[in-house]
Amino acid sequence: MPNPRDSRNTNAVAELLATASNVVVFTGAGMSAESGIPTFRDAQTGLWEQFDPEQLATPAAYRADKALVWGWYRWRMTLVERAQPNAGHLAISALERMRPGLVVVTQNVDDLHERAGSSDVVHLHGSLFAPRCFACDRPFGLEGAMATHGPQALRVDPPACRHCGGPVRPGVVWFGESLPTQAWSRAERLMQRCDILLVVGTSGVVQPAASLPRVAKRQAKPIVEINPEDSELTAIADVVCKAKAAVALPDILAAMQKPRRE
Ligand code: OAD
Repeated sequence: MPNPRDSRNTNAVAELLATASNVVVFTGAGMSAESGIPTFRDAQTGLWEQFDPEQLATPAAYRADKALVWGWYRWRMTLVERAQPNAGHLAISALERMRPGLVVVTQNVDDLHERAGSSDVVHLHGSLFAPRCFACDRPFGLEGAMATHGPQALRVDPPACRHCGGPVRPGVVWFGESLPTQAWSRAERLMQRCDILLVVGTSGVVQPAASLPRVAKRQAKPIVEINPEDSELTAIADVVCKAKAAVALPDILAAMQKPRRE
């Protein structure tokens, strides 16, 4: 039996993956941490340790101060634009080549999975790069509309919608808003039908996204957690890799490529 608290559980995960065809990877902010993108809740460095979500991540906040909110998201866009996918993102896209049909279900609003080569990414919380009009809801193409941004969050007036002139808002899901319907129902189906679920770098505290691994658990799917800390989902994991994503995921891939013992 593998020791479920041992970061060297990468061999145990490789064994589970050896017989799995339908792989789903559920990711959170910890996935991108080693690309230099801050998480939300890690002590000291988490965004919600430094900024107030009530002032930045609700429709009411946007109505109250559009330049504050747009400037903050513009700063986050710049952080992501300057970042590169890390070894964990790359390992997931390499795993997709070994297990075609692998799907990433992410809470992240960055595009690092796509830039690493993952071809099927379900964005539960929207995307920093898909803004839309706050008034008429039409998508807003960012080309040529973005001023360059420095290393800090600054107030920036949002651009105006090219159709109705309304203010453009970030294309992310804010607190109090519903998740995109199609992404949500596809994610639920994926949890029900997968052969294995890898849960990477999420605290598992934000609903409804955090309920998805429990959908897989109810169907008795094997669940692997990759996280250097305990999370709200650790208790339902069958195997825990207590390690960073950029370390554990390449190790799992390497373990899969080793000749298997008979
Ligand atoms: P959190 O910031 O809540 O949790 C990040 C998790 O990543 C924690 O469990 C960390 O222990 C773990 N972690 C940190 N570094 C890691 C690393 N290098 N490798 C692996 N894991 C690591 O982020 P989320 O769970 O993604 O919502 O937060 C969920 C949602 O809350 C976000 O999507 C966002 C936020 O409010 C919206 O914006 C709607």
